[in-house]
Amino acid sequence: MTGNVARVTTLRLRPEDPADVGPVRLVLGTAFARPDVATPPEVGLVDALRGTDAWLPELAMVAEYGGEVVGYALLTRVRVRPERGVDMPALAFGPVAVAPHRQRIGHGTAVVQAALDAGTELGERLVVVLGDPAFYRRFGFVPASELGLTSPWAGLGEPWQALVLPPSTSEEGPPPRGEVLFPQPWSHV
Ligand SMILES: CC(C)(COP(=O)(O)OP(=O)(O)OC[C@H]1O[C@@H](n2cnc3c(N)ncnc32)[C@H](O)[C@@H]1OP(=O)(O)O)[C@@H](O)C(=O)NCCC(=O)NCCS
Repeated sequence: MTGNVARVTTLRLRPEDPADVGPVRLVLGTAFARPDVATPPEVGLVDALRGTDAWLPELAMVAEYGGEVVGYALLTRVRVRPERGVDMPALAFGPVAVAPHRQRIGHGTAVVQAALDAGTELGERLVVVLGDPAFYRRFGFVPASELGLTSPWAGLGEPWQALVLPPSTSEEGPPPRGEVLFPQPWSHV
């Protein structure tokens, strides 16, 4: 039987692989483009983080549509320094971006949720972000100050947010509180 074959293109969510490095730069460069800079700092942040031990390959999430990288959500390692005791691991989002020609159709939500799900699967407990609450609230992010978390960006108020991920076992204690320490590449942002 002959006839039309329906081609359904779906959004594919997966960790980045080496071939994605250029396309990811393009997504970041166009999504964060500003008239006053040739290359937005978010591009350099990702490139710099890739070479550090803050990089967690499973949590560099790419959204691919029709074979094209159209979105990116990156979670990397940060540490929380409590008032007393040892530093605890946590994750920071950044950057999150969708190519301008594919924005506002759900890709950003999908790629962020995929990164959060992957973090939960790895047993992570806490994610921080500096971003617009209008976007991040839908995932359950709350003001990080409510969770007892500070950082160099805490003074910005609302954009400084955090999300507690579900515990993987019932024995797990509460998520860490304290000062969030970002690795060196963040100091250029
Ligand atoms: C922010 C961004 C990643 C969202 O991706 P997206 O694919 O456009 O998002 P979605 O289509 O999943 O939209 C989800 C919701 O967020 C809202 N939204 C989208 N961009 C937003 C923004 N910059 N600020 C606030 N809300 C935003 C949408 O209106 C939508 O709301 P609705 O569900 O009530 O209609 C994308 O717009 C982008 O790359 N922006 C430029 C880079 C940037 O600012 N990144 C930092 C993220 S804070």
